[in-house]
Amino acid sequence: MITAYDEPTARYADEAGVDILLVGDSLANVVLGHGDTLHVTIAEMAHHVRAVAAASPRAHIVADMPWLSYHVGVASAVANAGELIRAGAQSVKLEGGANRREVVRALVDAEIPVMGHLGLTPQSVLALGGYKVQGKTRDAAKLLVEDAMVLQSEGVYALVVEGVPRVVGTQLTESLDIPTIGIGAGPDTDGQVLVIHDLLGLTKGRPAKFVRQYADLGTAITDAVSRYARDVRDATFPSVAESYDDPAELRD
Ligand code: KIV
Repeated sequence: MITAYDEPTARYADEAGVDILLVGDSLANVVLGHGDTLHVTIAEMAHHVRAVAAASPRAHIVADMPWLSYHVGVASAVANAGELIRAGAQSVKLEGGANRREVVRALVDAEIPVMGHLGLTPQSVLALGGYKVQGKTRDAAKLLVEDAMVLQSEGVYALVVEGVPRVVGTQLTESLDIPTIGIGAGPDTDGQVLVIHDLLGLTKGRPAKFVRQYADLGTAITDAVSRYARDVRDATFPSVAESYDDPAELRD
C-alpha cells in the first residue's frame, strides 16, 4: 500500500503494481504543508479522493476519515464516509480501537468496508503528547492486541499498525485473521505502507527511522527548475524548434 493524493501520482503508483492506494490524511502534512493531520477536512479529503479516482486505478482506493469526521456521532460518521465513497473511495480507514467500535459497526452495517489503524495514531498527537512509538510496555502491547481483536470482531477488513516495536507488529499479525499493514512496525506484518512523498524524497526535514527513500525527486525538481530558470534568463528557452512557425502572411 502506498499513499496517493492526486491523479498523476495515483496513475504512476498504479502502473508500478501496488495493491492499495491510500488517500491518507497525511495529505495535511505532505501536500497542504500543515504540521499535523488535524487540519484536513472531509471536503479536502473528498477533493483528493476524486483526483485519485480520476486515474481509474486497478488498485483498491481507501480513504482516510479525517479527525472529527467520525468522533461526534455515528450518523455523521456514516454520512462522512459516504461522501468519501461517492468521491471514489472503495473503503475508508479510521484510527482507534475499542473506543471506535460503534462507528465501525455502523459503517460496516451501511455496507462500507473499513480499515482500522492502531499504534501511533497521528490524529491522537495532542492526547499522546507527540509522535511516540506505542506499545512499549507489556500492558500497552496487550491493550493493542485487545483493541485489534475488537476491530476485527466488528468487521474491519485490514489493520494498519503504525509506530510499534517489531515484536508488537509480529504479535498483532499472529493474533489476527485479517491482514496487518505496517508502517514502522517491523517486517512481520502482512503488508507495508509508506507515504509516497517519503519514498520519493519529497518530504521536508529528516525522514522517520522506518522510511526507506527510493528516489531523490526533491533534488531532481530543484535541478530541473533551476535549469529552466537559467535558460529563460539566458534567452536560450524557448528555441525556434519550441516556437510555432510564423504563418506566411505574417512574414515580411
Ligand atoms: O495518512 C496516512 O498517510 C496514513 C499512513 C501513515 C498509514 O494513515
